[in-house]
Amino acid sequence: MRETPIKWVVEDPKRKNVFWPSEEMKKRAWVSDEKIYEEAAKDPVAWWAKLAKEGITWFKEWTETYVWDPPFYKWFVGGKLNICYNAVDRHVKGWRRNKAAIIWEPEPPNEPHRVLTYYDLYREVNKFANVLKSLGIRKGDRVGIYMPMIPEVIIAMLACARIGAVHSVVFSAFSGQSLKDRMLDAEAKLLITADGYYRRGNVINLKANADIGIEGTTIEKVIVVKRLGKEAGLNVNMVEGRDYWWHELMEKAEPYCEPEVLDSEDLHFILYTSGTTGKPKGIEHHVGGYAVQAYWTAKWDFDLHDDDLFWCTADIGWITGHTYNCYGPLMNGATFLIYEGAPDYPAPDRLWQIIEKYGVTVFYTAPTAIRMLMKYGDEWVKKHDLSTLRILGTVGEPINEEAWLWYFNVVGGGRCPIIDTWWQTETGATLINSLPGIGPFIPTVAGRPFPGTRFSILTEDGKPTSIGEGGYLVQLSPFAPGMFRTIYKDPERFRQQYFSVYGEKIYYTGDGAYIYDEMGNIRITGRVDDVMKVAGHRLATAEVENAIAQHPAVVESAVVSVPHDIKGEVPVAFVVLKPGYKPSAELEAELRKTVDRIIGPIARPERIIFVDDLPKTRSGKIMRRILKALLRNQPVGDITTLMNPETVEMLKEKVGYRERGQ
Ligand code: WT7
Repeated sequence: MRETPIKWVVEDPKRKNVFWPSEEMKKRAWVSDEKIYEEAAKDPVAWWAKLAKEGITWFKEWTETYVWDPPFYKWFVGGKLNICYNAVDRHVKGWRRNKAAIIWEPEPPNEPHRVLTYYDLYREVNKFANVLKSLGIRKGDRVGIYMPMIPEVIIAMLACARIGAVHSVVFSAFSGQSLKDRMLDAEAKLLITADGYYRRGNVINLKANADIGIEGTTIEKVIVVKRLGKEAGLNVNMVEGRDYWWHELMEKAEPYCEPEVLDSEDLHFILYTSGTTGKPKGIEHHVGGYAVQAYWTAKWDFDLHDDDLFWCTADIGWITGHTYNCYGPLMNGATFLIYEGAPDYPAPDRLWQIIEKYGVTVFYTAPTAIRMLMKYGDEWVKKHDLSTLRILGTVGEPINEEAWLWYFNVVGGGRCPIIDTWWQTETGATLINSLPGIGPFIPTVAGRPFPGTRFSILTEDGKPTSIGEGGYLVQLSPFAPGMFRTIYKDPERFRQQYFSVYGEKIYYTGDGAYIYDEMGNIRITGRVDDVMKVAGHRLATAEVENAIAQHPAVVESAVVSVPHDIKGEVPVAFVVLKPGYKPSAELEAELRKTVDRIIGPIARPERIIFVDDLPKTRSGKIMRRILKALLRNQPVGDITTLMNPETVEMLKEKVGYRERGQ
């Protein structure tokens, strides 16, 4: 596109692989002055009050900015707003009315793309909000959303937000059973889904999974988007009086729906994520604080301007999708792209082809995708003109240096900063990363906490660590406004999981980290609990164990993760069979299918090892530490506390253990 594209970063003359924003970037960026960190730190509460006023349209201003009653906290108390109004209405009142909001790229390369302007979105959202109301949905009611990456998923979320209904989006590749568990916990009244979608050229019958998911739940009505229709050969089961086609309801819907005036602390959405037990947690995000942080992080981290095209590849079923494929860019009036399908379909250059086709300027993806695309080789990237790119982002798990440098040099042509954003479903929006106009950009180092937020890295005994010393990453009050407020229906679990390790005043993230340099840049080393990140997806080892236990042949199992070149880590299952069952390839396949059915293919164990027994302590707890060491060929360490130390020899043989030494 450009003869000589602008260099947005320059190399540090003193240090290898350390980059800083170029003068062009500093001129263009919303923030480029280092001083904002200091300014924000002087009085973080006042800082956030200022940002809240500037970024968000409030119907009524709050009376108290921050209220802290450990472990609970609230923001902008008494303030009134509507996030859908902020995402859509305020743009249609001005020149952005006919600006593109969403560009949708379907998976089949020959199917036409769709563009929704802000005004299109406004009309659709208003109508759909009226549809929801006509089916009896009111403020506070929970609505399940189980949809592929199509514009209707965003319309559905915004319509819920408009009327104050609480959406709970479930990733479309999760099984019907996973959907059901979440809908039961949320006590949802209505589900929005689609007939199906395309994935790697295959037709996925989503409605069939949705039917499993609503059985025995409180869901009374189902709205189904016709994404595929008959041509795709799908047989869609529609139940009279329960299931409705989206397009039929929309035909009759009134064009305007008054946005509900919501309280800053009203519940906005629930999103389930894995904890350390088998039961997913319903993470509660509330309207006001979430809006403020989603707005400012989208604007500053990705430096979104009106001429940018932002593409975040995350599925809407994850928090990244909520914040950066819906609320963040929309509240900023930005144009963004969503893509329905697989990154390497029909060929390994699909993503690069899309960037070239639309002229994407800001691209945000996960290390697992970067590693996969890196493996296919540079020629797939080099076939395309990616000169429109100016910022690259990564999220979801620690990125290794090799993948960072490949992303930087091959995809970004050495011109674009890499914004490595650390955050969690719980935090609602990004929290630790370098800002494009400030830097620095260092491989494997996320950066500094977002201005106005406070983190520390503590030793086991709660002492701050020094530079280079590993510890536990914690957040200190005032907690960022976009942080979750509690676990749905389970405030005790909230307290216990996040505010008990270091007391009620310190938020425990579950991640290990260390301070990288004098500037206070932070390097994240990964989870320190029984949570895995498999291809960036968050899963508890206990969830996979519970799924395996559903098979009649299984007595018990232990799941641990092992490192994997592309996916970061993958689950391996040790399985003990009931008498009468023999290990076999068929049984292995059946166990994998059971995991697919109960959770979904993302949780499928990479390896299943049948064993006679598992290493246990005298109190009966499985020592996963030993299993991990065995799989990694590391020393097993002290085994004297085991009730059955003899299992270790048996396990060594089964896994083909070769001790690598210290
Ligand atoms: C966990 C949260 C946040 C959206 C997607 C994941 C890991 C996330 C990074 C990063 C190293 C990261 C952490 C965190 N993580 N971003 N940039 N560098 N690790 O959300 O599924 O709630 O997972 O992802 O371990 O605790 P999530």
